Amino acid sequence: MKEPMKAVITGTGSYLPDKIITNDDLAQQVDTSDEWIRTRTGIRERRILAEDRATSDMCVEAAKRALEDAGMDAAGVDLIVVATVTPDMFFPATACLVQERLGAVKAAAFDLSAGCTGFVYALATAAQFLETGMYRTALVIGGDALSRITNWSDRSTCVLFGDGAGAVVLEAVADPGNGILGSYLRADGGGGHLLHMPGGGSRCPASGESVAKGLHYLRMDGQEVFKFAVKAMGEAALHLLEQCGLSREDIDFLIPHQANIRIVDAALKRLGLSPDRVYTNLDKYGNMSCASVPVALDEAARAGRFHKGHLLLLVAFGAGLTWGGVALRWAK
Ligand code: UT7
Repeated sequence: MKEPMKAVITGTGSYLPDKIITNDDLAQQVDTSDEWIRTRTGIRERRILAEDRATSDMCVEAAKRALEDAGMDAAGVDLIVVATVTPDMFFPATACLVQERLGAVKAAAFDLSAGCTGFVYALATAAQFLETGMYRTALVIGGDALSRITNWSDRSTCVLFGDGAGAVVLEAVADPGNGILGSYLRADGGGGHLLHMPGGGSRCPASGESVAKGLHYLRMDGQEVFKFAVKAMGEAALHLLEQCGLSREDIDFLIPHQANIRIVDAALKRLGLSPDRVYTNLDKYGNMSCASVPVALDEAARAGRFHKGHLLLLVAFGAGLTWGGVALRWAK
Protein backbone atom coordinates (compact mmCIF):
# COMPACT_ATOMS: atom_id res chain seq x y z
CA MET A 1 0.00 0.00 0.00
CA LYS A 2 1.22 3.54 -0.80
CA GLU A 3 2.26 5.52 2.27
CA PRO A 4 0.22 8.69 2.96
CA MET A 5 2.22 11.81 2.09
CA LYS A 6 2.60 14.93 4.21
CA ALA A 7 3.59 18.43 3.06
CA VAL A 8 6.64 19.61 4.99
CA ILE A 9 8.27 23.06 4.99
CA THR A 10 11.92 22.53 4.01
CA GLY A 11 12.94 26.14 3.35
CA THR A 12 11.85 29.69 4.14
CA GLY A 13 12.81 33.09 2.75
CA SER A 14 11.72 36.69 2.82
CA TYR A 15 12.40 40.05 1.23
CA LEU A 16 11.80 43.55 2.57
CA PRO A 17 12.42 46.71 0.55
CA ASP A 18 15.20 49.00 1.84
CA LYS A 19 13.16 52.18 2.12
CA ILE A 20 11.86 52.83 5.64
CA ILE A 21 9.06 55.25 6.52
CA THR A 22 8.79 56.00 10.24
CA ASN A 23 5.75 57.19 12.15
CA ASP A 24 7.41 60.60 12.45
CA ASP A 25 7.79 60.73 8.65
CA LEU A 26 4.04 60.08 8.30
CA ALA A 27 3.23 62.73 10.91
CA GLN A 28 4.72 65.26 8.48
CA GLN A 29 2.26 64.21 5.76
CA VAL A 30 -1.02 63.66 7.66
CA ASP A 31 -2.52 64.68 11.01
CA THR A 32 -1.15 61.84 13.15
CA SER A 33 1.61 61.16 15.68
CA ASP A 34 4.11 58.47 16.55
CA GLU A 35 2.36 58.12 19.91
CA TRP A 36 -1.10 57.50 18.34
CA ILE A 37 0.21 54.94 15.85
CA ARG A 38 2.33 53.05 18.40
CA THR A 39 -0.32 52.85 21.10
CA ARG A 40 -3.22 52.01 18.75
CA THR A 41 -1.37 49.57 16.50
CA GLY A 42 2.13 48.70 17.78
CA ILE A 43 3.66 49.87 14.48
CA ARG A 44 6.83 52.02 14.52
CA GLU A 45 7.92 51.92 10.88
CA ARG A 46 7.21 50.16 7.58
CA ARG A 47 9.06 49.30 4.33
CA ILE A 48 8.06 50.82 1.00
CA LEU A 49 8.79 49.32 -2.41
CA ALA A 50 10.80 51.44 -4.88
CA GLU A 51 8.73 53.00 -7.65
CA ASP A 52 10.38 50.98 -10.40
CA ARG A 53 9.72 47.60 -8.75
CA ALA A 54 6.61 45.45 -8.35
CA THR A 55 5.19 42.65 -6.20
CA SER A 56 6.75 39.93 -8.41
CA ASP A 57 10.24 41.39 -7.81
CA MET A 58 9.82 40.94 -4.05
CA CYS A 59 8.33 37.45 -4.53
CA VAL A 60 11.29 36.36 -6.68
CA GLU A 61 13.80 37.45 -4.02
CA ALA A 62 11.87 35.75 -1.20
CA ALA A 63 11.52 32.57 -3.30
CA LYS A 64 15.25 32.47 -4.13
CA ARG A 65 16.08 32.64 -0.43
CA ALA A 66 13.57 29.90 0.41
CA LEU A 67 14.97 27.66 -2.36
CA GLU A 68 18.50 28.25 -1.13
CA ASP A 69 17.44 27.41 2.42
CA ALA A 70 15.88 24.17 1.17
CA GLY A 71 18.94 23.38 -0.97
CA MET A 72 16.70 23.09 -4.00
CA ASP A 73 17.00 24.18 -7.61
CA ALA A 74 14.06 26.09 -9.12
CA ALA A 75 13.97 23.53 -11.95
CA GLY A 76 12.77 20.94 -9.41
CA VAL A 77 9.66 22.93 -8.38
CA ASP A 78 6.32 21.45 -9.55
CA LEU A 79 3.96 24.20 -8.40
CA ILE A 80 4.13 27.93 -7.58
CA VAL A 81 1.25 29.62 -5.76
CA VAL A 82 1.44 33.36 -5.12
CA ALA A 83 -0.98 34.84 -2.61
CA THR A 84 -1.42 38.56 -3.20
CA VAL A 85 -3.97 41.37 -3.31
CA THR A 86 -1.57 43.58 -5.27
CA PRO A 87 -0.51 41.52 -8.31
CA ASP A 88 1.77 43.18 -10.86
CA MET A 89 -1.28 43.34 -13.15
CA PHE A 90 -4.65 41.57 -13.57
CA PHE A 91 -3.06 39.00 -15.83
CA PRO A 92 -0.84 37.17 -16.42
CA ALA A 93 -0.69 35.87 -12.89
CA THR A 94 2.18 37.15 -10.76
CA ALA A 95 3.03 33.47 -10.12
CA CYS A 96 3.78 33.07 -13.86
CA LEU A 97 6.10 36.10 -13.82
CA VAL A 98 7.88 34.59 -10.82
CA GLN A 99 8.05 31.17 -12.50
CA GLU A 100 9.82 32.61 -15.53
CA ARG A 101 12.27 34.70 -13.49
CA LEU A 102 13.21 31.74 -11.26
CA GLY A 103 13.61 29.35 -14.18
CA ALA A 104 11.09 26.95 -12.64
CA VAL A 105 10.61 25.38 -16.06
CA LYS A 106 8.28 22.53 -15.13
CA ALA A 107 6.13 24.36 -12.55
CA ALA A 108 2.41 25.05 -12.78
CA ALA A 109 1.75 28.58 -11.50
CA PHE A 110 -1.27 30.52 -10.30
CA ASP A 111 -2.25 33.38 -8.00
CA LEU A 112 -4.66 33.10 -5.11
CA SER A 113 -6.74 35.94 -3.69
CA ALA A 114 -8.02 35.66 -0.13
CA GLY A 115 -7.18 39.06 1.36
CA CYS A 116 -4.60 39.00 4.13
CA THR A 117 -5.48 35.32 4.75
CA GLY A 118 -4.02 34.59 1.31
CA PHE A 119 -0.82 32.90 2.45
CA VAL A 120 -2.68 30.56 4.81
CA TYR A 121 -5.15 29.67 2.01
CA ALA A 122 -2.23 29.14 -0.40
CA LEU A 123 -0.33 26.90 2.02
CA ALA A 124 -3.42 24.76 2.62
CA THR A 125 -4.09 24.59 -1.15
CA ALA A 126 -0.54 23.64 -2.13
CA ALA A 127 -0.44 21.00 0.62
CA GLN A 128 -3.40 19.22 -1.00
CA PHE A 129 -1.46 18.75 -4.25
CA LEU A 130 1.41 17.21 -2.31
CA GLU A 131 -0.73 15.03 -0.08
CA THR A 132 -2.59 13.53 -3.05
CA GLY A 133 0.73 12.67 -4.68
CA MET A 134 0.11 14.92 -7.69
CA TYR A 135 3.20 17.05 -7.02
CA ARG A 136 6.35 16.58 -4.93
CA THR A 137 7.53 20.19 -4.48
CA ALA A 138 5.76 23.53 -4.21
CA LEU A 139 6.78 27.12 -3.67
CA VAL A 140 4.20 29.05 -1.70
CA ILE A 141 4.71 32.81 -1.71
CA GLY A 142 2.87 35.69 -0.04
CA GLY A 143 3.76 39.10 -1.44
CA ASP A 144 2.11 42.49 -1.34
CA ALA A 145 2.86 46.10 -2.15
CA LEU A 146 0.00 47.76 -0.32
CA SER A 147 1.76 51.11 -0.69
CA ARG A 148 0.50 51.00 -4.30
CA ILE A 149 -3.17 51.06 -3.29
CA THR A 150 -2.87 53.22 -0.17
CA ASN A 151 -4.38 56.68 -0.05
CA TRP A 152 -1.46 58.56 1.46
CA SER A 153 -3.70 61.42 2.56
CA ASP A 154 -6.06 59.15 4.58
CA ARG A 155 -4.63 58.91 8.10
CA SER A 156 -7.03 56.13 9.08
CA THR A 157 -5.36 53.68 6.67
CA CYS A 158 -1.99 55.02 5.50
CA VAL A 159 -0.29 54.46 8.86
CA LEU A 160 -1.10 50.74 8.89
CA PHE A 161 0.49 49.12 5.86
CA GLY A 162 3.87 48.15 4.45
CA ASP A 163 5.41 46.15 1.58
CA GLY A 164 7.24 42.80 1.55
CA ALA A 165 7.23 39.15 0.53
CA GLY A 166 7.81 35.78 2.18
CA ALA A 167 8.04 32.27 0.78
CA VAL A 168 8.26 28.64 1.79
CA VAL A 169 9.34 25.50 -0.04
CA LEU A 170 6.96 22.61 0.60
CA GLU A 171 8.02 19.05 -0.09
CA ALA A 172 6.03 15.82 0.03
CA VAL A 173 7.39 13.31 2.54
CA ALA A 174 6.14 9.98 3.84
CA ASP A 175 6.19 11.06 7.48
CA PRO A 176 2.72 11.14 9.03
CA GLY A 177 3.80 12.84 12.26
CA ASN A 178 5.42 15.87 10.63
CA GLY A 179 4.60 18.77 8.34
CA ILE A 180 1.12 20.19 7.82
CA LEU A 181 -1.28 18.45 10.19
CA GLY A 182 -4.45 20.31 9.29
CA SER A 183 -5.98 23.50 7.93
CA TYR A 184 -9.11 25.51 8.63
CA LEU A 185 -10.35 28.02 6.04
CA ARG A 186 -13.42 30.23 6.36
CA ALA A 187 -15.11 33.08 4.49
CA ASP A 188 -18.00 35.48 5.02
CA GLY A 189 -18.62 37.49 1.86
CA GLY A 190 -21.28 39.48 3.71
CA GLY A 191 -18.41 41.51 5.18
CA GLY A 192 -16.75 42.18 1.84
CA HIS A 193 -17.58 45.88 1.94
CA LEU A 194 -15.65 46.34 5.19
CA LEU A 195 -12.28 46.10 3.45
CA HIS A 196 -12.09 46.50 -0.31
CA MET A 197 -10.80 48.40 -3.32
CA PRO A 198 -13.85 49.34 -5.41
CA GLY A 199 -12.19 50.48 -8.63
CA GLY A 200 -10.38 48.72 -11.45
CA GLY A 201 -12.41 45.52 -11.80
CA SER A 202 -15.32 44.61 -14.08
CA ARG A 203 -17.86 46.38 -11.85
CA CYS A 204 -16.04 49.67 -11.96
CA PRO A 205 -13.37 49.69 -14.68
CA ALA A 206 -10.61 52.27 -14.51
CA SER A 207 -11.65 55.64 -15.91
CA GLY A 208 -10.76 59.26 -15.34
CA GLU A 209 -13.80 59.44 -13.06
CA SER A 210 -12.84 56.36 -11.02
CA VAL A 211 -9.38 57.79 -10.45
CA ALA A 212 -10.76 61.22 -9.51
CA LYS A 213 -13.09 59.57 -6.98
CA GLY A 214 -10.21 57.65 -5.39
CA LEU A 215 -11.81 54.28 -6.15
CA HIS A 216 -8.41 52.64 -6.72
CA TYR A 217 -7.44 53.05 -3.10
CA LEU A 218 -7.98 50.51 -0.35
CA ARG A 219 -10.96 51.38 1.87
CA MET A 220 -11.55 49.99 5.32
CA ASP A 221 -14.00 50.24 8.18
CA GLY A 222 -11.25 49.84 10.77
CA GLN A 223 -13.46 49.40 13.81
CA GLU A 224 -15.63 46.69 12.23
CA VAL A 225 -12.60 44.81 10.90
CA PHE A 226 -11.05 45.09 14.36
CA LYS A 227 -14.13 43.51 16.00
CA PHE A 228 -14.09 40.66 13.49
CA ALA A 229 -10.33 40.17 13.80
CA VAL A 230 -10.17 39.81 17.58
CA LYS A 231 -12.48 36.79 17.31
CA ALA A 232 -11.25 35.30 14.04
CA MET A 233 -7.68 34.26 14.82
CA GLY A 234 -8.55 32.73 18.20
CA GLU A 235 -11.46 30.85 16.65
CA ALA A 236 -9.26 29.52 13.84
CA ALA A 237 -6.64 28.33 16.31
CA LEU A 238 -9.18 26.55 18.53
CA HIS A 239 -10.78 24.80 15.52
CA LEU A 240 -7.38 23.65 14.30
CA LEU A 241 -6.49 22.21 17.70
CA GLU A 242 -9.77 20.31 17.88
CA GLN A 243 -9.38 19.02 14.33
CA CYS A 244 -5.87 17.74 15.05
CA GLY A 245 -6.75 16.28 18.46
CA LEU A 246 -4.44 18.74 20.23
CA SER A 247 -4.85 21.18 23.12
CA ARG A 248 -3.73 24.76 23.84
CA GLU A 249 -0.82 23.47 25.91
CA ASP A 250 0.55 21.72 22.81
CA ILE A 251 1.12 25.01 20.94
CA ASP A 252 4.81 25.91 20.81
CA PHE A 253 4.47 28.94 18.53
CA LEU A 254 1.68 31.09 17.16
CA ILE A 255 2.52 32.97 13.96
CA PRO A 256 -0.39 35.37 13.47
CA HIS A 257 -1.23 37.83 10.73
CA GLN A 258 0.49 41.03 11.81
CA ALA A 259 -2.10 43.81 11.55
CA ASN A 260 -2.36 45.32 15.02
CA ILE A 261 -0.63 44.29 18.26
CA ARG A 262 -3.96 44.65 20.10
CA ILE A 263 -5.47 41.99 17.79
CA VAL A 264 -2.51 39.67 18.40
CA ASP A 265 -2.83 40.20 22.17
CA ALA A 266 -6.54 39.33 22.00
CA ALA A 267 -5.71 36.05 20.24
CA LEU A 268 -3.06 35.24 22.86
CA LYS A 269 -5.55 35.92 25.64
CA ARG A 270 -8.21 33.72 24.03
CA LEU A 271 -5.72 30.89 23.74
CA GLY A 272 -4.17 31.44 27.16
CA LEU A 273 -0.70 31.70 25.60
CA SER A 274 2.18 33.65 27.09
CA PRO A 275 3.78 36.36 24.91
CA ASP A 276 6.96 34.29 24.48
CA ARG A 277 4.99 31.86 22.31
CA VAL A 278 4.14 34.37 19.60
CA TYR A 279 6.41 35.95 17.02
CA THR A 280 5.63 39.51 15.99
CA ASN A 281 7.45 41.94 13.72
CA LEU A 282 4.69 44.44 12.95
CA ASP A 283 6.58 47.16 14.81
CA LYS A 284 9.17 47.07 11.97
CA TYR A 285 6.97 46.34 8.96
CA GLY A 286 3.32 47.23 9.64
CA ASN A 287 0.62 45.10 8.01
CA MET A 288 2.09 43.49 4.87
CA SER A 289 -1.11 41.60 4.02
CA CYS A 290 -0.25 38.23 2.40
CA ALA A 291 3.43 38.67 3.28
CA SER A 292 3.01 39.08 7.02
CA VAL A 293 2.74 35.40 8.04
CA PRO A 294 5.55 34.03 5.80
CA VAL A 295 7.93 36.89 6.66
CA ALA A 296 7.32 36.31 10.39
CA LEU A 297 7.79 32.56 9.87
CA ASP A 298 11.08 33.09 8.04
CA GLU A 299 12.43 35.55 10.60
CA ALA A 300 11.51 33.34 13.55
CA ALA A 301 13.00 30.26 11.83
CA ARG A 302 16.26 32.05 11.02
CA ALA A 303 16.43 33.39 14.59
CA GLY A 304 16.45 29.74 15.76
CA ARG A 305 13.11 30.03 17.54
CA PHE A 306 11.74 26.71 16.24
CA HIS A 307 12.98 23.23 17.07
CA LYS A 308 12.24 20.01 15.24
CA GLY A 309 8.85 18.72 16.38
CA HIS A 310 7.54 22.11 17.55
CA LEU A 311 3.82 22.64 16.94
CA LEU A 312 3.21 25.88 15.02
CA LEU A 313 -0.16 27.47 14.36
CA LEU A 314 -0.27 30.00 11.52
CA VAL A 315 -3.46 32.07 11.74
CA ALA A 316 -4.75 35.01 9.73
CA PHE A 317 -7.78 37.13 8.81
CA GLY A 318 -8.48 39.64 6.08
CA ALA A 319 -10.58 41.03 3.27
CA GLY A 320 -13.36 38.81 2.01
CA LEU A 321 -13.94 38.52 4.82
CA THR A 322 -11.69 35.49 5.21
CA TRP A 323 -9.95 33.83 8.12
CA GLY A 324 -8.28 30.56 8.96
CA GLY A 325 -5.13 28.75 9.93
CA VAL A 326 -2.69 25.93 9.33
CA ALA A 327 -1.26 23.64 12.04
CA LEU A 328 2.13 22.10 11.39
CA ARG A 329 4.99 20.26 13.05
CA TRP A 330 8.30 21.94 12.31
CA ALA A 331 10.51 19.37 10.61
CA LYS A 332 13.75 21.21 9.84
O1 UT7 B 1 -5.28 42.91 7.45
C1 UT7 B 1 -6.52 43.31 7.91
C2 UT7 B 1 -6.63 44.75 7.90
N1 UT7 B 1 -6.99 45.63 8.87
C3 UT7 B 1 -6.95 45.60 10.21
O2 UT7 B 1 -6.64 44.64 10.85
C4 UT7 B 1 -7.34 46.83 10.91
C5 UT7 B 1 -8.28 46.59 12.05
N2 UT7 B 1 -8.57 47.84 12.74
C6 UT7 B 1 -7.66 48.46 13.53
O3 UT7 B 1 -6.53 47.99 13.70
C7 UT7 B 1 -8.08 49.72 14.24
O4 UT7 B 1 -9.47 49.87 14.13
C8 UT7 B 1 -7.37 51.00 13.69
C9 UT7 B 1 -5.90 50.97 14.08
C10 UT7 B 1 -7.54 51.09 12.20
C11 UT7 B 1 -7.98 52.24 14.34
O5 UT7 B 1 -7.88 52.15 15.75
P1 UT7 B 1 -9.17 52.45 16.66
O6 UT7 B 1 -8.73 52.32 18.06
O7 UT7 B 1 -10.27 51.54 16.18
O8 UT7 B 1 -9.43 53.95 16.32
P2 UT7 B 1 -10.78 54.60 15.77
O9 UT7 B 1 -10.97 54.25 14.34
O10 UT7 B 1 -11.87 54.32 16.74
O11 UT7 B 1 -10.43 56.15 15.84
C12 UT7 B 1 -10.23 56.79 17.10
C13 UT7 B 1 -9.88 58.24 16.84
C14 UT7 B 1 -10.81 58.92 15.85
O12 UT7 B 1 -10.96 60.27 16.27
P3 UT7 B 1 -12.25 60.72 17.10
O13 UT7 B 1 -13.42 60.42 16.19
O14 UT7 B 1 -12.25 59.89 18.34
O15 UT7 B 1 -12.01 62.17 17.34
C15 UT7 B 1 -10.05 58.90 14.55
O16 UT7 B 1 -10.40 59.96 13.68
O17 UT7 B 1 -8.58 58.30 16.24
C16 UT7 B 1 -8.64 59.08 15.04
N3 UT7 B 1 -7.63 58.56 14.14
C17 UT7 B 1 -6.36 58.96 14.18
N4 UT7 B 1 -5.73 59.88 14.95
C18 UT7 B 1 -4.41 60.04 14.74
C19 UT7 B 1 -7.78 57.61 13.16
N5 UT7 B 1 -6.59 57.40 12.57
C20 UT7 B 1 -5.69 58.23 13.17
C21 UT7 B 1 -4.32 58.46 13.01
N6 UT7 B 1 -3.73 59.37 13.83
N7 UT7 B 1 -3.58 57.79 12.11
